[in-house]
Amino acid sequence: MYSLPFPIMTADEAATLIQNGQTIGFSGFTAAGSPKAIPRALAQRAEREHLANRDYKVGVLTGASTGPSLDGALAQAEAISFRTPYQSDPVLRSQINTGKVRFTDMHLSLLPQIVRYGFLGPVHWAVVEACDITRGGGIVLTSAVGAAPTFLNEAEKILIELNANHPSSLLGMHDIFEPKDPPARAEIPIYSPSDKIGSPICIVDPSKIVGIVLTALDDESGSFCDPTPATQRIGELVADFLVSEMRAGRVPKHFLPLQSGVGDIANCVLGSVGSHPEIPNFEMYTEVLQDSVVPLLENERCKFASTCSLTLSPEKMRRVTDNINFFKRKIVMRPQEVSNHPEVVRRLGIVSMNTAIEVDLGGNVNSTHVMGRQMMNGIGGSGDFTRNAYLSIFSCPSTAKGGKISTIVPLCSHMDHSEHSVQIVVTEQGVADLRGKDPHERAHLIIDKCAHPEFKEQLREYLRLVKEGHEPQSLSLAFAMHRHFLTNGDMRKIEWEYWRAH
Ligand code: COA
Repeated sequence: MYSLPFPIMTADEAATLIQNGQTIGFSGFTAAGSPKAIPRALAQRAEREHLANRDYKVGVLTGASTGPSLDGALAQAEAISFRTPYQSDPVLRSQINTGKVRFTDMHLSLLPQIVRYGFLGPVHWAVVEACDITRGGGIVLTSAVGAAPTFLNEAEKILIELNANHPSSLLGMHDIFEPKDPPARAEIPIYSPSDKIGSPICIVDPSKIVGIVLTALDDESGSFCDPTPATQRIGELVADFLVSEMRAGRVPKHFLPLQSGVGDIANCVLGSVGSHPEIPNFEMYTEVLQDSVVPLLENERCKFASTCSLTLSPEKMRRVTDNINFFKRKIVMRPQEVSNHPEVVRRLGIVSMNTAIEVDLGGNVNSTHVMGRQMMNGIGGSGDFTRNAYLSIFSCPSTAKGGKISTIVPLCSHMDHSEHSVQIVVTEQGVADLRGKDPHERAHLIIDKCAHPEFKEQLREYLRLVKEGHEPQSLSLAFAMHRHFLTNGDMRKIEWEYWRAH
């Protein structure tokens, strides 16, 4: 029986409170923990307003990407004016790439403080999913923390979706901690992935809570594709590499905490690391827990996981909630400002494992923009971890689009991670260990170990053409493979002399 002092309302009623031009901070990180009913109602409201020839768009801040009910529905209704820090919805992506939505790509760890500093203007609303609320304004979040604590503190008003599909027994899995802003900031006192430093609930001013919408909806996190031979091989190579580092004494016998990125490749890499007989039981300090981690936690291969979200398929999420007392001892969910914090990543000696769109011969990585222009998802947390990791690993298949695109290119068409942060590159062809190598050594190693055989010779030819300089690059030829693809639909069989002349 509902007995809280906050008004219950429908999602439609909640949506009518949000005005054109306002900025909303939504809870969630990936599709986990995002509100679902209010954004759908907001999208329907936008459609009605547009039919009546009235403007209706809102600024959308979240922890990371969201699911179809949030980014999907709002984009479909053309209701988003501004979006940050990360997204992965196909309709929204296309609106960003055609200039209909302003999008700022951002390191996820930075978003909360950028909101607090006021760089994004006022946050009018926090719309947050909870599994429980106390009379005094204590909010128990659901399957993610994201930037919700900051949105709740900074927003003028709060709407809450109380989701019965997330049990209130999630209480105790969150560790809410918001650092003070400079010059009052002190260290974040995490010395081991399992250290808890904050509160299990978000505490807000109850007078800001304008309404509660009751829901019973599953998270919209999808399941994963079966491994391909390439992703399987990448996983095995990463696991073998980590074992060789252990044998060489560069990774201690008790191992180091792992961070694993998003997507099918990351899911597969973690599965391979988990099943390697020589890798000891390990801990994770990461931002997303994907499906492959649940069995690893169950069989104690993964001893403990610190994360920002449980980005699990509904089936895996149920496995967690059905055995909640076990998983509460194994998982802590933190705000992204803490789960991704450079200070903690550097202190703990994280092994970061992320995915690239393309890697260049200098070891720079593009994680975000196809052909230098088309935004895919965003940098996410990959930079937070990569720049501060003990070992930073990037992997990707050596080709994309049926072999027509080489993911190893002379120069990245957009750069997210520079040569200074990228240490190890892995494709299904092999592993390039770039540590301590100069630019010419790196270039040869990346071609020899990582490029697809169909592209090796043409990449070597590029190096022969530009052999001088500290960096083996030619301003006239560096993007010739991309230009060749844009003209011919294929990066193969390039004629370098033609592109030098054009
Ligand atoms: N040129 C053109 N398209 C490319 C490409 C390239 N060089 N490399 C990959 N792609 C396309 C793939 O063809 C695929 O397209 P599709 O969806 O039409 O099939 C898509 O990009 C995704 O690539 P895929 O190989 O399936 O990998 P993925 O699902 O693991 O995603 C990233 C790879 C890089 C897009 C994804 O990991 C990402 O967004 N990373 C940035 C954020 C991040 O690292 N977060 C984790 C931090 S903890």
